Amino acid sequence: MNILILPGDGIGPEIMVQAARVLDKIKSEGEDITLSHGTLGGAAYDAHGHPYPDATQALARSADAILLGCVGGPQYDTLPRAVRPEQGLLAIRKDLKLFANLRPAMLYPELAAASSLKPEIVAGLDIMIVRELTGDIYFGQPRGRRTNAAGEDEGYDTMHYARSEVERIARVGFETAMKRNKKLCSVDKANVLDTSILWREVVTELGKTYPEVQLSHMYVDNAAMQLVRAPKQFDVIVTGNIFGDILSDEASMLAGSIGMLPSASLDANNKGLFEPIHGSAPDIAGQDKANPIATILSLGMMMRYTFGRADLAQRLETAVRKVLAAGLRTGDIATSGDNVVGTRAMGDALIAAL
Ligand code: IPM
Ligand code: MG
Repeated sequence: MNILILPGDGIGPEIMVQAARVLDKIKSEGEDITLSHGTLGGAAYDAHGHPYPDATQALARSADAILLGCVGGPQYDTLPRAVRPEQGLLAIRKDLKLFANLRPAMLYPELAAASSLKPEIVAGLDIMIVRELTGDIYFGQPRGRRTNAAGEDEGYDTMHYARSEVERIARVGFETAMKRNKKLCSVDKANVLDTSILWREVVTELGKTYPEVQLSHMYVDNAAMQLVRAPKQFDVIVTGNIFGDILSDEASMLAGSIGMLPSASLDANNKGLFEPIHGSAPDIAGQDKANPIATILSLGMMMRYTFGRADLAQRLETAVRKVLAAGLRTGDIATSGDNVVGTRAMGDALIAAL
């Protein structure tokens, strides 16, 4: 397993230390793991003047899988857009053709009280959001700034999807549903957008080849509402880049904390970039407060999806369940009376549980 580590910014380095300790532990048991290290985002800008420098690109292209911390921070907010940390993330996704973004939102029973929704609405929640990641309005051309016919300054972006792009992400959605409860909800805005009309046609067409999957379609505004009204109606959701960006943040809150949720961004051969879905949390960076669980679970997704090692993924997931059952909580998932521990102590407990 040739794994590239990209700690990134903010709390990234400290959560990655815990992930590296977990990898060391697995390696000490005889697994063939080779680690390389690189920079992405603000850290890469500081070191190389670019958020996705050539050195990182070369490492990323030759790795089997990449574990990323998180990118961004207030010190970079005034940089020109082309060199801002988020551009590094968008660039590596595009460069490696990581079109399939899997974002699970599940609630550990121990954390039901940490959700902002009533426990009965979220207890047992287990959703998988499949988000297209390399197309849509994020990358569509033309885009930019111009002076319009009335002489006014305007900004513009272009939403588009080609049939093949919709088909390949829809296929991931159907395949994911086949491995779960065989329910797929495709989210679009086909009552307004031409892009979505094509999206719905392609998904419907492909659905004929998955007769076992119960396919439904939902407008994105309704989906946003249903996610907080009755989230357990969903099994797998498949959607485009921007709708998936928004809905996955919303879904993460159902699970109690964004600090718990991993993600996988995969290419057509299951090579992938794995990252917690939380941001770089500059307000708590360097204070031993960050929750390393989402990163450890991202490592689990890497084992499962890139390396086909469901056994190792399960061990990591079981270790997380054990530390939660033992009552350990970082600040973000603590409710009153809980035993609040720091990043390193959480890492210690996870390694012991492994
Ligand atoms: C995410 C983030 C990114 C996105 C940003 C940081 C560019 O919000 O991974 O969801 O919009 O895709
Ligand atoms: Mg987002």
